[in-house]
Amino acid sequence: MSLKEDRRLLVTGGAGFIGSNFVHYWCDRYPNDRVVVLDALTYAGNRGNLSSLDDRNNFRFVQGDICDRALVFNLLQEENIDTIVHFAAESHVDRSILGPAVFIQTNIVGTFTLLEAFRYHWEKRGRATSDRETCCEATYRFLHISTDEVYGSLTPDAPAFTETTPYAPNSPYSASKAGSDHLVRSYYHTYGVPTIITNCSNNYGSYQFPEKLIPLMSINILLGKPLPVYGDGQNVRDWLYVGDHCAALDVVIHRGKPGETYNIGGNNEVKNIDLVYTLCQLMDELAPQLPVHPCHKLIGFVKDRPGHDRRYAINATKIKTELAWTPSLTIEEGLRLTVEWYLTHRDWWEPLLSEEYQAYYRQVYA
Ligand code: NAD
Ligand code: DAU
Repeated sequence: MSLKEDRRLLVTGGAGFIGSNFVHYWCDRYPNDRVVVLDALTYAGNRGNLSSLDDRNNFRFVQGDICDRALVFNLLQEENIDTIVHFAAESHVDRSILGPAVFIQTNIVGTFTLLEAFRYHWEKRGRATSDRETCCEATYRFLHISTDEVYGSLTPDAPAFTETTPYAPNSPYSASKAGSDHLVRSYYHTYGVPTIITNCSNNYGSYQFPEKLIPLMSINILLGKPLPVYGDGQNVRDWLYVGDHCAALDVVIHRGKPGETYNIGGNNEVKNIDLVYTLCQLMDELAPQLPVHPCHKLIGFVKDRPGHDRRYAINATKIKTELAWTPSLTIEEGLRLTVEWYLTHRDWWEPLLSEEYQAYYRQVYA
């Protein structure tokens, strides 16, 4: 009989958007697992996202940098971590255009530091047990959360990205994520470290920082500010509700195969301009009093993002057929939940519109 112990997770970037949704998902679903969050609390990290978990014995928050070798090595030993769920990254394309250096540092050097620490720890503690057929320890895993942007840009009729689509990143952000993916892959092939990569499409939902399309448009509508659509607004993204992403990561952690890559997507391709109109309609319906009504009057086209990828689309057949995952929400349901969340959580987003954020905003949208 296989007697599996509870898992001991290190979640990097757990105070960010997807990371904090994942930590809540995991703590609700697997209350006996130990969850340690390592997060540097950059502008994108928010300690408050996790404060409701502070009373739990098996939850711990550590503020620190994934590039800090000594910290990461010690944490893995001290907490006897068997599973790393690696979200920590610089994640915004526009910021990578303004200042790429930190993207190289966190996304590539940080991932390398984690891989080295995990390899050392796994060789000491995990290798023997994870090789045995019947063991009493949770299976060791290094799950690297990556993006569909590593595959580059699609023409309108091209087939969606599969796991074998060649990499062709076009921004410093996606190039840094591609670099980290290659390192993660190499640690499986060279050292046998049980790594898995997931490449996911655009997420949306609660706790997303205001700089990203959906929160930015939602907040600007509530403030009566212009809605800046880049270029001609015809760029296409494939949208996935963040809770469905977390459920996909759950099946990958429990049933995914080391050395494999899984694409995750919502099968929801939408043009930016159509998405912004839909948000306007939802806000007109749900918000009690808007400064500008109907709010589509706020839409304006602005200078395009340099190197702006035209279209992303994910073929998620592999995770659907091999791991039986499918998204549970339609985009209509997910967007409604998201708009309702931003409407009722002004106390969460208002403090994020700091002077630092305004300076960033002026740089991008001036
Ligand atoms: P986010 O920017 O909201 O959060 C990133 C988190 O990482 C923050 O809490 C930040 O404080 C932390 N962090 C940054 N640098 C760090 C460092 N050096 N050490 C420790 N912590 C650090 O990002 P997100 O949107 O939640 O994305 C999470 C991951 O998922 C990223 O790796 C991203 O590339 C990937 N991803 C995001 C999307 C999306 O649509 N948002 C889609 C696919 C993949
Ligand atoms: O595809 C997955 C990626 O999705 C993740 O890897 C990234 O971390 C995440 O930021 C996201 O990248 P995008 O660049 O696609 O997301 P963003 O929300 O910045 O923009 C979505 C689309 O909307 C994109 O085509 C640019 C456009 N846009 C964005 C902003 C912020 C606008 O037209 N106006 C805007 O003000």
